[in-house]
Amino acid sequence: MKSIKIFAPATVANLSCGFDVLGCCLDNVGDEMVITLVSEPGVKITKIDGADLPKETHKNVAGVAVEALLEIYGKNVGVHIEIYKKIKAGSGIGSSAASSAGAVWAVNHLLDQPFTANELVKFAMEGEKLASGNAHADNVAPALLGGFTLVRSYNPLDVIKLHTPKDLTMTVIHPQIEVKTSDSRSVIKHDVSLKQAIQQWGNVGGLIAGLFTEDYSLIGRSLEDVIIEPLRSILIPEFKAVKEAALSKGALGCGISGSGPSIFALSKGKETANLVAEAIREVYSKTGLDFDIHVSKINSQGVKIIT
Ligand code: HSE
Repeated sequence: MKSIKIFAPATVANLSCGFDVLGCCLDNVGDEMVITLVSEPGVKITKIDGADLPKETHKNVAGVAVEALLEIYGKNVGVHIEIYKKIKAGSGIGSSAASSAGAVWAVNHLLDQPFTANELVKFAMEGEKLASGNAHADNVAPALLGGFTLVRSYNPLDVIKLHTPKDLTMTVIHPQIEVKTSDSRSVIKHDVSLKQAIQQWGNVGGLIAGLFTEDYSLIGRSLEDVIIEPLRSILIPEFKAVKEAALSKGALGCGISGSGPSIFALSKGKETANLVAEAIREVYSKTGLDFDIHVSKINSQGVKIIT
């Protein structure tokens, strides 16, 4: 029996302008999983701690993702999966993606890496499809590759790892209300105007250029979403006040994390990120809602072994 314990990171998808294509990986927020290869073929979820999630393999995102990997691997393999959830479901920081990405990464590692990290994205996407009805890759890609990632194309799948400027620091507030990705996707309009599209792809290009040239001001200017945020932000209490507070303390930009309700703010340096966290805390303390706040570096490695 071969076994490993891994850290399966939380991720922030979309990054304002890049709906379904951009995402980045967090460093100190995530789940733990223990993955074991066993002699009896088949995939079993043997333990789930910290969340009320289905244990049946075909209903569990980690189970489905690993089955997708083994189907292509083509040999009879037995896998036991223990999941220690710390990221809450429906939080908007890639809870399902952490489980799918973590599981396929660990199985691939235990099988001596028959697949590249890019190839693993496709298998992990099967978990996302089960969780939200849509096989998006903008959470699983940064969880698997680390840092910032771009899904240049879904068909064929083309995922690119971007550069991470070292001072970028993320502040995330997670209001303790659940917003299902499927609900949050249902409020989006499917048609966009050419005017909106021009603004949005200008920002996507600007953000990517800003990351590669470490131009923090350009990164900040590009963290703008004229298509999705105006529709989804109404689902998030005090979104506007949080954004104003974050920007007033020097955040480069602020927007909805994935499908919400979490809100992210990117800052240059930990000091500013902490000031932003305090300002956001002040706004949310008045709402009477429970919330968590995380300040995290960008994790340029992705999933990692912890024992
Ligand atoms: N891009 C997806 C969405 C991410 O915004 O619906 C879900 O976490």
